[in-house]
Amino acid sequence: MQHLDNNKQHNTMTVDLLLGLQWGDEGKGKIVDVLTSKYDIIARFQGGPNAGHTLEFDGIKHVLRTIPSGIFHKNAINIIGNGVVIDPVVFQKEIEGLAKFNMDVTAKLFISRKAHLILPTHRLLDAASEASKGKAKIGSTLKGIGPTYMDKTGRNGLRVGDIELEDFKERYRTLADKHEAMIAFYDVELQYNLKEMEDEFFTAVEDLKKLTFIDSEEYLNKALKEGKSILAEGAQGSLLDVDFGTYPYVTSSNTTAAGACTGLGIAPNKVKDVFGIFKAYTTRVGSGPFPTEDFKEAGQTMAKVGNEFGSVTGRARRCGWLDLVALKYAVQVNGVTQLYMMKGDVLSGFDTLQVCTGYNYKGQTIQHLPYNIEPENVTPIFTEMKGWKADLTGMTTYDELPQELKTYIEFIEKEVEVPIKVISVGPDRKQTIMK
Ligand code: IMP
Repeated sequence: MQHLDNNKQHNTMTVDLLLGLQWGDEGKGKIVDVLTSKYDIIARFQGGPNAGHTLEFDGIKHVLRTIPSGIFHKNAINIIGNGVVIDPVVFQKEIEGLAKFNMDVTAKLFISRKAHLILPTHRLLDAASEASKGKAKIGSTLKGIGPTYMDKTGRNGLRVGDIELEDFKERYRTLADKHEAMIAFYDVELQYNLKEMEDEFFTAVEDLKKLTFIDSEEYLNKALKEGKSILAEGAQGSLLDVDFGTYPYVTSSNTTAAGACTGLGIAPNKVKDVFGIFKAYTTRVGSGPFPTEDFKEAGQTMAKVGNEFGSVTGRARRCGWLDLVALKYAVQVNGVTQLYMMKGDVLSGFDTLQVCTGYNYKGQTIQHLPYNIEPENVTPIFTEMKGWKADLTGMTTYDELPQELKTYIEFIEKEVEVPIKVISVGPDRKQTIMK
C-alpha cells in the first residue's frame, strides 16, 4: 500500500486497464481501490449490477455494484461508461449505502448518457429465460443483464440520456409492453407485481437525475489530452466474455481488454498497461465448464478458508486448482502486462498443490482453450508442487514469503511469461505485497 501511494506517477495520455482473468470474483475491487491514488479517473466499462466489488479498509467492508471502486478515494473522479448497464433501482440503493461515509457523491461520480438502462421487465425476462432453460440454465445473477444487452444490440434499448427526453415515459411503455408479450411467450410461471416494480423504477429514475450525465467518451478523451491518468475497471472475468468465454455460460458483455475501448470510447493505442487479476486458485459461480474444479476436500477447504460465497447472490462458488492453460489464454486475449495474484493466503496449509499445465483433449495434450471445453472433452493435466504452512496474512514484504510460495509464483511467471507484481494476502488494503 505504502509503496503504491508513494509511487504516485501520472501516465500522461494513457489509460491502464484492470481486468479479471478467470470467471470473476478475482478481487478486482480491492486492487482498484489500492491503485486509485495513482489515477485521476476510474472508469467502469461494462457489466452492471451483476458485479459485486468488495472493498475492505479501516475495518469497514463495502460492496460496490455499478459504482467504480475509486469512489472512496478523495480526489478520484469516477465514471460509469457507455458500455455499462444501469438498474436505477439497484443504483439508488447503492447511493444510499454510501451516505454513511459522508462523501459528496455527486461531485465525483458521472454517468454516460449512452449507458443502457435495465428496466424492471428486463429482470423479469432474465428470470423467464432462465426458468425456461431448466437444467441448461446459465446460472445468471438475474439482474436483467442479458435482456438489456440484447435490447442494446437489437437497437431497442433505452439509455440514460433518454431520461432527459420529454417522451421518456412513452418510450418506456412501448418497450415494457413488448417485454410483457415476450414474457408471456416463455410460458413459465412468474410471480410479480409490475405496477409496484415500475413505481420503484420511476422513483429511482428521479433520484438518478440528481447525478450528472455526461458524454463520457468526450470527457475521457479531453481528460487524456490534458494529461490526466485513467484506470479502466472491468467487471466479471475474461472466461465470462461473450466472445472468448465458455459460451453460452458467459455474461453478455466483452469483459476483455477490447471491451474497455468500446465501453469507454477510448482508442486501443491509448492503452498502456493491462493489469490482470487472478486468484492463486480458481473459482466459478453459476453453471458451465470448469476443468480444474475439485469436488473433494481440497475444493471444500478453498471454499471455506477463502469464504467463497457470491457477494451479489450469496451463492456458494465452485472451487478448484489454478488453471494455467486458461490463464495463458486470458493473458493473450487481453495483452496483460502485469499480473496481480490474489488470495495466496487461502492456499496456506496444503501439503501439496496441483497446477493445471495442459489439457488432455480427445486423446491429445493441448495447451490452449479449445472450442469444446466441456468435461467429456477435456481432462486437466496437473503438475504437483510443494505447499507451505505459514500464515501469510500478517506478512508485508516479498522476502518474508515462504520459499514454496515464491517457487509457485516463479513457476506461474515462467509458464505465463508475464511478471507477477503484486501478491495479495488478505482482504484489507494493507495486506498487499509488492514484488
Ligand atoms: P449474468 O451476467 O448475471 O447474466 O450471469 C451470467 C453468468 O456470469 C453466471 O454464471 C453468473 O454467475 C456469472 N457472473 C455474472 N457476474 C458475475 C460476477 O461479477 N462475478 C462472478 N460471476 C459472475
